[in-house]
Amino acid sequence: MVRCVPAGLTAEQIREANTRYHDVAAGDYDFKWGIDFGAAGRGQVTAKLRKALGHAPGRYARSLEIGAGTGYFTLNMVRAGMIGRATCADISPGMLSALQANARRLGLEVDTVRADAERLPFGDASFDLVFGHAVLHHIPDLGRAFAEFERVLAPGGTVLFAGEPSRYGDRLSVLPKRVAGAIAPLWRRALGARAVARAHGAGSGAALERFVDVHAFAPSELRRAAHQAGLRDVRVAGEELLANWFGWANRTLEASADPDQVPWLWRQYAYRGYMLLQAIDRALLEARLPATVFYNLMISARKPGVGGAASAPHAARRHPKWAGDTRAGRSAARTGRGGEKPTAGRSSRR
Ligand SMILES: C[S@@+](CC[C@H](N)C(=O)[O-])C[C@H]1O[C@@H](n2cnc3c(N)ncnc32)[C@H](O)[C@@H]1O
Repeated sequence: MVRCVPAGLTAEQIREANTRYHDVAAGDYDFKWGIDFGAAGRGQVTAKLRKALGHAPGRYARSLEIGAGTGYFTLNMVRAGMIGRATCADISPGMLSALQANARRLGLEVDTVRADAERLPFGDASFDLVFGHAVLHHIPDLGRAFAEFERVLAPGGTVLFAGEPSRYGDRLSVLPKRVAGAIAPLWRRALGARAVARAHGAGSGAALERFVDVHAFAPSELRRAAHQAGLRDVRVAGEELLANWFGWANRTLEASADPDQVPWLWRQYAYRGYMLLQAIDRALLEARLPATVFYNLMISARKPGVGGAASAPHAARRHPKWAGDTRAGRSAARTGRGGEKPTAGRSSRR
């Protein structure tokens, strides 16, 4: 069974906590998680899609992203020419405003809709792709949500979710966090960085944080949820092990310090080390070890029937807006989901 909502909280309270937590988080979400909409971000998103699908992503005429946040996946996919008409749903109005601001800045058009994953305000068979990143673990009733994904998907359409914490990987990540927490004062002294001021109060993001993550999954649980919703060709894969330990340790250290006092050189080391370990995970470990040992799980599946699916995998086209994108290069040097902040561990705890 998928782990249920934390003791003492109703599903409604979980949704409310998620809304308030992510409304607060939206302000500095892109900076905190190193979200990038340039070439580096597109590279990360495309690699995850390819891994989840088991082949190169195609082009989808109508897409729906669940828990779209500030647009990390959808905006990168639109820029990559993978999506015709993009709809982004999220329970947090703050996240949707940030997403719209990002879309305006990038000159992209997307529809945003405030919606709970378990009650989607769309007609049957409205989309060719229903997807999300780092969202399933926030949803109280996974069975209901998958039934909704299946309902709004056109026959032949694709469901895809990535960045979900695996139960085993989640447990393993406790060790680097503990070690980093213990040595954080020494690390700050070595770098000459002040300790960060802590947020207090019941309404603050920090106070809500422990209520927003509802699940960590075994691969079989994700597979079962998809099967029970009537989806077929279900595929579950895992990614990131070494990169995740490294990322969690660094993130724990960084989170203990005033962000303005973390030196550029340290951020470069953290980013480059993370990218190197991600490449090692990809080349050596992901094909050899079972999905269950990795920190992140990804799932893809298909709704039975013909039509509505992506065009051929090779159909993804370069978007004309890619040409001459200088922001891509600049932000890639700074951020983590493509830039200098490690993406590691970004799928739970926020
Ligand atoms: C960790 S963030 C991920 C955001 C984005 N997908 C990304 O990868 O950057 C999780 C997102 O899911 C949204 N969310 C949480 N519970 C939800 C629910 N029940 N229905 C829809 N969205 C939800 C949150 O508001 C938040 O924007």
